[in-house]
Amino acid sequence: GVPIEIDLAPIAPGQILSLIWRGKPIFVRHRTAQEIAAEEATPLSALMDPQADADRVKPGKAQWLVVYASCTHLGCIPLGHRGDWGGWFCPCHGSQYDASGRVRRGPAALNLPVPPYSFVDDTTLRIG
Ligand code: FES
Repeated sequence: GVPIEIDLAPIAPGQILSLIWRGKPIFVRHRTAQEIAAEEATPLSALMDPQADADRVKPGKAQWLVVYASCTHLGCIPLGHRGDWGGWFCPCHGSQYDASGRVRRGPAALNLPVPPYSFVDDTTLRIG
């Protein structure tokens, strides 16, 4: 697949950009300091699919979360800033994800996967 570049400058803290890459929906979320603090403080023992927040973002870039936007249950597009963890809520069967894209309530059992990406510079993201 051909990489795509995204200008991050217009995405304010708290906003989620939705895009399509290689035919798959992706979310780019500009996380707030409060969201980052909550995700970093979540113990792995509280998670259904244990993964540290630091392992889902790039070092020094914890404000940017990039995940595939398909619910890991049956592929619906979850709604942002909804649910008990303020991450995403899936309208199809009620799965919930936190602001790290980690599943917190089923029927989904797996976290939203992180696609391959890198930073070209401070305001340019490359996916692919
Ligand atoms: Fe999301 Fe079933 S597709 S909960």
